[in-house]
Amino acid sequence: MRFSTASTVLSLPLLAAADVPNYQAQFDNYLGQAQTVLGKFASKIPHPNKYDPVAAAEAKAGALNIDILSLDNWKETLYGPVKPDSTTPEEWWVLITGGNKTCFGHCGRIEIAFNETAGKWALTPGSPHTALLNCEDQPVLCNSWSAPVGALWIFEILPEPAPVNIWTKRFNMTTVTSDDIVELQKEGYKSAAHLHDGFFHPFNGPLAKNGLAVPVGWVLWAFNLLPSWAFMILVSIFSRSMM
Ligand SMILES: *[C@@H]1O[C@H](CO)[C@@H](O)[C@H](O)[C@H]1NC(C)=O
Ligand SMILES: *[C@@H]1O[C@H](CO)[C@@H](O)[C@H](O)[C@H]1NC(C)=O
Ligand SMILES: *[C@@H]1O[C@H](CO)[C@@H](O)[C@H](O)[C@H]1NC(C)=O
Repeated sequence: MRFSTASTVLSLPLLAAADVPNYQAQFDNYLGQAQTVLGKFASKIPHPNKYDPVAAAEAKAGALNIDILSLDNWKETLYGPVKPDSTTPEEWWVLITGGNKTCFGHCGRIEIAFNETAGKWALTPGSPHTALLNCEDQPVLCNSWSAPVGALWIFEILPEPAPVNIWTKRFNMTTVTSDDIVELQKEGYKSAAHLHDGFFHPFNGPLAKNGLAVPVGWVLWAFNLLPSWAFMILVSIFSRSMM
């Protein structure tokens, strides 16, 4: 099948018709099928995600009071301290970090600075909650968020189903210290950070809303494993079979 201008024009009325409830139901039906297929596909792949519950419990109970996020626990962790009738958001500061493979060994300094900050905040009531997301250990979660290593993500969590604002901030990875992070919190991050938006937003994005973020995370992760020549061959086979 070849996409042509004619078929695009023909499909426009169909798109318009998708607003009609009947077609909406049809669309939801397709969406459900896509979710099932992708979910089955994902559950067959060997698990690349590493999560050490003992180490995570120690990190939480220790002086840093830091949570370690994984594909299975991130949502309940972030919602953990949120009270059902709360109207002021709970603030979570999450460092997206990595090791030699995902961050080329450049994340060490910012991770030390972040851990130090977590230690300070653990002693100060009313401080933000802190968590680490290690993309070396959690490649699927990082892919499903399309989260860049070395960035600091600040989540403002209200009780469900309120939308969640995420502010992202990058530091100079060769010079950052704990003082930079503490200062950002004191001075207010909203003028210095970016409000995160778009397709891969873990709460408000269309992928997350349709339950597709995790399957897409798996697919992107799988593509990352392919050498680029294999990727090119796949693309060429795929585009040929489309015609
Ligand atoms: C930061 O703290 C976490 C949790 O305790 C730990 O796993 C990690 O190794 C620490 N990172 C550095 C660079 O010390
Ligand atoms: C990361 O790379 C550095 C330098 O190449 C090496 O010294 C270190 O052992 C590596 N760490 C891991 C966890 O592989
Ligand atoms: C980070 O700081 C170093 C030293 O001040 C500087 O040379 C480098 O260009 C900075 N990097 C970025 C990305 O701003």
